[in-house]
Amino acid sequence: MTTQISGRGSASAPPAWPTVPKEAARRRREVPAGEGLTPVTLIPGDGVGPEVIGAAVEVLEAAGVRIAWERQEAGAVALRKYKTPVPDELINSLKRTRIALKGPLETGVGQGYRSINVHLRRTFNLYANLRPTRNFEGVQTPFNNVDLVIVRENTEDLYSGIEHQVAPGVVESVKVITAQASRRIARFAFEYALHNGRKRVTAIHKANIMKLSDGLFLKCARQVAQSFPTIRYDEQIVDAACMRLVTNPAAFDVLLLENLYGDIISDLCAGLVGGLGVVPGANYGEHGAIFEAVHGTAPDIAGRNIANPVAAILSAAMLADYLGDSIAGQRIRRAVGEVLRGGRVLTPDLGGKATTAAVRDAIIARLNGLTETAQTSV
Ligand code: NAI
Repeated sequence: MTTQISGRGSASAPPAWPTVPKEAARRRREVPAGEGLTPVTLIPGDGVGPEVIGAAVEVLEAAGVRIAWERQEAGAVALRKYKTPVPDELINSLKRTRIALKGPLETGVGQGYRSINVHLRRTFNLYANLRPTRNFEGVQTPFNNVDLVIVRENTEDLYSGIEHQVAPGVVESVKVITAQASRRIARFAFEYALHNGRKRVTAIHKANIMKLSDGLFLKCARQVAQSFPTIRYDEQIVDAACMRLVTNPAAFDVLLLENLYGDIISDLCAGLVGGLGVVPGANYGEHGAIFEAVHGTAPDIAGRNIANPVAAILSAAMLADYLGDSIAGQRIRRAVGEVLRGGRVLTPDLGGKATTAAVRDAIIARLNGLTETAQTSV
């Protein structure tokens, strides 16, 4: 695959980020709203969440996207305040709006409450996790031709949460793979490819070892592939795929993955394009979507105004697309691309010295047709 497929990215054109498959967009539940504003749940989240989500909200407003935010708390911040990481108000808001812009939520390692992210994705059946991952001019990385899309199944696999102790010193975690969920995510990947000018879907697996579970996933992917004769389909074993990703990432287009492989390979791919600070994401279901960056709460830099807001801002651009305002989505992506290309207003993760707020302001200035000035570049 080459990265210069007609109609996609070039130096002067805005970065052509993918949008939701048309069919999924059509199925989007229309929420009645006053004064033309669409209600959307806003979850600032934990750690760097409030900083980067705050920036994303301001950028959406500057781009003219008309949203009535329903601000809700979740995760560690909600636990401290309401004694639960998933307050009823949050769930009720999501039931009303069916759409959210979300910051990262803290989950304890090896202890504590179970992941709220997994809970929300399963509760609202947001089965498809989409993570477009590509290079930006101005961001120094070992490769300059990465342009791939991760499609990760979001509802089952080892994330089913079924774990038990068989005997002292012996535990089991159950990997659940169903034909229904495997076909559904494969169809999403192919429809996505079809509607976004993508040429190839690669299913990533370990069916040489997990013959039943990954074997079923592959069988379903192969069946679905037959309905999309114009999209090339192939398969790679996950360990070999990792090696190829870090040596020749341009060889990949759309990656179709189960939940756990998708989680791990998302971060690997983020590392190819400048890190977690620049990779957006969205969780789509048939009746709603939650937009969130790939990264977590980044506790090591939280509260210091140095988190990179680009991933959250690009996730917000995907939200704009979903709301039907793809012109705003495209303008935001163009503004982000220009600021990064300028190379003067970059957060420390990208080798710069700019603050979160400075990057936000530079992007808003670009949206307003201005160039960033000296006072925004620190
Ligand atoms: P992490 O993504 O929070 O951080 C990994 C590294 O990337 C850190 O060095 C961090 O400083 C850096 N980083 C992340 N986002 C950045 C940004 N916007 N700008 C600059 N640097 C950034 O992953 P980690 O440390 O494994 O997880 C921390 C917490 O976040 C855990 O509680 C985890 O469960 C949670 N988490 C939540 C997610 C979500 O809510 N969707 C996703 C991933 C992790």
